Order: sequence, then structure tokens, then C-alpha cells
Amino acid sequence: MNPTIELLTSHRSIRKFKDQAIPRALFEQLIRAGQAAATSNHVQAYTIIHVVNPQNRQKIAELAGGQPYIASCSDFLVFCADMKRATEAAERAGADVARGMTEQLLVASIDTALMAQNVAVAAESEGLGICYIGGIRNNPQDVSELLNLPAHVYPVFGLCLGYPDQAPEVKPRLPLDAILKEDTYDDSRDQALVDHFDSEMRQYYQARTGSNKETTWSEQLMPLFTSKLRPHMKDFLNQRGFGVK
Ligand SMILES: Cc1cc2nc3c(=O)[nH]c(=O)nc-3n(C[C@H](O)[C@H](O)[C@H](O)COP(=O)(O)O)c2cc1C
Repeated sequence: MNPTIELLTSHRSIRKFKDQAIPRALFEQLIRAGQAAATSNHVQAYTIIHVVNPQNRQKIAELAGGQPYIASCSDFLVFCADMKRATEAAERAGADVARGMTEQLLVASIDTALMAQNVAVAAESEGLGICYIGGIRNNPQDVSELLNLPAHVYPVFGLCLGYPDQAPEVKPRLPLDAILKEDTYDDSRDQALVDHFDSEMRQYYQARTGSNKETTWSEQLMPLFTSKLRPHMKDFLNQRGFGVK
């Protein structure tokens, strides 16, 4: 394995951070590495809010369902999908802009995720730990108000960055055959592959150093699909001006 692939395959989320600040020069390098990600039509449909105010960090930690590492990590970022800047630029250039297209929601969300993952990998390459925070979508309206987000901008997820104060094991992934298909979507072996993965995950949860539990991948998924997860998102996105057409 080359060092880049080794780095990528040793990723694990970090939820406990040292009380040590990331130097500003390094922080900016990470963001620039994020900007270097591929971007749909060069639109760069994102804005990052670097949340430095400690009260706001605490408030977001609560709004995200009680996730203390949002307040305790060195730097907390909210990655926002942003169709405001680009559509306004096109408008100034003379375009009769169509807003609220579902395709724009996809473009902005994909751009945002790609840039965030570049930031994450760059951070890990410097020995930092990261944890994505989808929990900010528990209360996206409150988060948007706190960050003063305008229309056509929505918070996709947060990202904790900092020096790790834990060394969790790497979490297994599905077998390659489950997620990589040749030519067409053949799911004839999927159930067997998931069964196999469930036993692997059971062993992982039993053996890992922190928060052992008796469960499988399939069981862990149950609450995601038995209750409606974040049913407010459609109205929230529509009201922000995303994905109504
Ligand atoms: C978009 C996204 C949102 C996530 N949101 C949260 C979160 O709110 N809180 C948290 O502790 N972990 C969160 N995670 C981390 C996942 O739980 C984690 O990546 C997954 O369990 C795999 O573990 P690993 O990252 O250690 O390999 C999120 C990950 C992603 C990609």
C-alpha cells in the first residue's frame, strides 16, 4: 500500500480530543486542500462556517443531540451547501437565473461533501482526528439562525477537528463484493455477504476497547429505518430555497 491508501484505510472517527489548538497556518492549509476537490462545473457551491464562539459551539453541541466533542475539539466547522454566491454571480453576468432546482440541491450537497472529505483526509494526514456531525440536521433551522445563514444556503453537516486523545480501532466495512458489481447490479449474494458482515461487526463491537455492545450492522440500522429520520428536512430545504422544482 502506498502511504495515501494506507492513510485512507486507517481512518476512524475521533470523538475525544486533546486540549491543543491546531495552528492557524495548518488550519488554512486544510481548507485550501478542501477547495482543491473536484467541483461540479467549477461552481464551488459551498461555504464553511468556522464556529469559534464558545457559546455557539456549546449551543450547537446541544442542538446536535448532546455531542460534547463539538465544543471540546480544536476547531468546529459547519459545511454549508451554497447556491447563493454562484447564482448571484451568474445573475450579475446577465443570466435569468432559475433557482430551487433539485439538481442544484444535488450539485451543492455533492460539492460540499467532496470538499469536506478533502479537508478530513488532509487533517488526518497531519495526525489530526476528525468526526463528521450529521446531528446538526436534528435542528437545522436553529443552527441556520445561529450561523446567520441566508436563503439558498443550508448546513449539510459539521466537522470536528483536533488532536486525538483516543485511538479507536478501525471499523470494518462491507465486503468488496457487496458494494462492487461487474457490469450490472447483481444482488444474488448480498444477503449472504450481509450475514457474513453482521458476524464480523458483532465480533468488532464485542472486542473493541470503547463502548462494547452486543449487536450487528443490520440491527444497528433498525432505528434509522423504523422511525422517520429527520422528517423536517424536506420542508426545511424547500424553505431555504432548495429542491422545490
Ligand atoms: C455525513 C456524516 C454524518 C455523521 N454524523 C455523526 C454525528 O452526528 N455524530 C457522530 O458521533 N458521528 C457521526 N458520523 C460518523 C459516523 O458514525 C462514522 O463515520 C461511521 O460510524 C463509521 O465509523 P468510522 O468513521 O470510525 O469509520 C457521521 C459521519 C458522516 C459521514
